[in-house]
Amino acid sequence: MITAGPTREYLDDVRYLSNASSGRMGYALATAALKKGHEVILVSGPVDMKPPQGCEFHSVETTSQMKEVCHDCFSRCDGVIAAAAVCDYKPVNRIEGKLAKTGNPISIDMIETDDVLAELGQTKNDHWIVGFALEAENARENALQKLRSKNCDWIILNNPSAIGSETNDVEILDSTGKVKVSFSGNKSDISIEILSWIEKQVS
Ligand code: CTP
Repeated sequence: MITAGPTREYLDDVRYLSNASSGRMGYALATAALKKGHEVILVSGPVDMKPPQGCEFHSVETTSQMKEVCHDCFSRCDGVIAAAAVCDYKPVNRIEGKLAKTGNPISIDMIETDDVLAELGQTKNDHWIVGFALEAENARENALQKLRSKNCDWIILNNPSAIGSETNDVEILDSTGKVKVSFSGNKSDISIEILSWIEKQVS
């Protein structure tokens, strides 16, 4: 199972918070996995791309929808690659209809969304789990902390320039914090390399 793209969190019925993730990394991984003959479940937030032919596709919008679909599909998967750029916060209340202008500043109370990957990690059993970490500073340290707190086997570290880009520079870390391998280039090309590397670890 691969998660991809951003999630959206609604403030009212027409406005939402989200991020600039294009979904390219997740879709490239799904395409690479299909090419390699794997069965793929792709759970995607709203993106401007068609799902690769041959995958089981689930379109979601909010983090809680992504969580629900991932939980439903988890038992049918051998492993998970979580490439989605999930919204970390959501408005405490979704206002019905459309919030009108008041002429004054407004503030929005926000709470953390559920952590889809961490919750899958808690019921991991014999699944393998690969997370992504998007880090601006203390990159390896933060990535390792995420790997541990989300109970991942490996974590793919990249930096904010990956968002919306055609290319990516990634390092794969294990649970000791060791950099096992690194790949740079077009997201399609490095997806093949990432998948080949994961195959070797889990076979
Ligand atoms: N993730 C998730 N659900 C969330 C947040 C993140 O499943 N609510 C997953 C992402 O898909 C990714 C990993 O967790 O595989 C790390 O995401 P990242 O945004 O780098 O980290 P966060 O846990 O959101 O922490 P922070 O934003 O504070 O760096």
